[in-house]
Formats: sequence, structure tokens, C-alpha cells
Amino acid sequence: MQERSIAIDGPAGAGKSTLARALARELGYLYVDTGAIYRTVALRAREAGADPSVPEQVAPLLEDLDLRMDYGGDGVQRMYLSGRDVTEAIRENEISALASQVAALPAVREFLLEFQRKQAREHDVVMDGRDIGTVVLPQAGVKIFLTAAPEARARRRTAELLQRGQDADFDEILREIRQRDEQDENRPVAPLRQAEDAALLDTTNLDLKGSLEALLTLVRERLSL
Ligand code: DC
Repeated sequence: MQERSIAIDGPAGAGKSTLARALARELGYLYVDTGAIYRTVALRAREAGADPSVPEQVAPLLEDLDLRMDYGGDGVQRMYLSGRDVTEAIRENEISALASQVAALPAVREFLLEFQRKQAREHDVVMDGRDIGTVVLPQAGVKIFLTAAPEARARRRTAELLQRGQDADFDEILREIRQRDEQDENRPVAPLRQAEDAALLDTTNLDLKGSLEALLTLVRERLSL
């Protein structure tokens, strides 16, 4: 049911996951965080001692990759790698950089494409990522490109990590965000870019409530809800 699905793309820290989750709850849709899927592949690569940027080292790992995703009663998406719950482990800051590297590999993107599309066939989804509107769900009923200035995104990411009890240094996070943007925007396969038919939502000067209101307005207009 691609036509009913909602695709939200944008760079790291624009508020995609928080807003997509809230939107899904509001509409009774399933929230699919595709970054978590790439992160799980990155964790597998790290555990296998593979260089995440070398296709010959990562591709063989896909053959017997045991990756599963499910939702508890709370609607939270949990990721499993070989039966192990890795939902928390994939949030480590180091995994963010590794995920961006494995996500640049065509073999990884191709492997995960069907996995992601299947979710949209089986459920009404709000799916967030980098190439959902352009590649994964080109027929999505609503496409949103959610962005914010790098400084605003770094501030939010710093607060999020500190809240989780992890170390966080604003300058370092800003540098990492810029590096990740550069990598995600310039890779040859499925780069991060706004789909031609996507609505742009810039949350630099909006708080969470304001962002959600703006998002809901866009979605209701487009899905005629
Ligand atoms: O949204 P995130 O930070 O959890 O994503 C982790 C990395 O995965 C990010 O650097 C880009 C990549 N990614 C992607 O290339 N395509 C997606 N649909 C989702 C994430």
C-alpha cells in the first residue's frame, strides 16, 4: 500500500525519528526507522572485524545475515541480530559513522531494499531514512524532506546523547554531522536528496510541538485526512 505510506527523508539530527514516531502514533500507522536497519548491518560488520567501507568484506556478511525487526505492545521498533536484541547497542555514536559507511555500499542498499518495501506492503507506514521518497517508496502518498541547520542538529544530538548518559561534545558532534551529511549526500548510490515531489520542512527555528504541527498540516493536506 505504497500510496498510503508516508516517506520522511533528511539528514541526521533533523528530528526525523521523533517526529515520524509521533506522526505514526497520531495516524495509527507503523513507524519504520530504516536507519536502525543500516545500523544493525554496521554492527554486524564491526563484530565480524570487517572494514565497513570495503564491499568485498561486507558483502559476504549479507549472505547469512540474520536480521529481524519487531514491535512490542509499546510500538517501539526493536532490532535483532542473530536473535540478540541490539536495539540499544546500535545507538552508540561509533555505529553512526560505521552505518554511514556501510550505507554507501550498493550491495547493502540492494539487500535492504526489499526488506523495507515489504513493511510498506504489509502495513500503513511512516518510514524515515535518506532515500525513502526517492528510491524505496517512490509512490508514497506523502513525501517530506525534513531538515535543519547543522548547528541546530548538533545541539539536539548532543542533548539526546547526554540524556542517554553517553559522552557528548558539541564541536565533535557538529564535525561528525557535517562529515556524515557530506558522505550521505555525495555517495553515488541513493544519495540523500529531496525528492522532486517532496514537501520541505525546515525545523531550525521550530520546537518539537511546532514541528509536529507543521508536519501534521502537510500530511493532512496531502492525504486528505
Ligand atoms: O538515521 P540514522 O542516523 O539512524 O542513519 C544511520 C546511517 O544510515 C546514516 O548515516 C545514513 C544511513 N541511512 C541510509 O543511507 N539510508 C536510509 N534509508 C537510512 C539510513
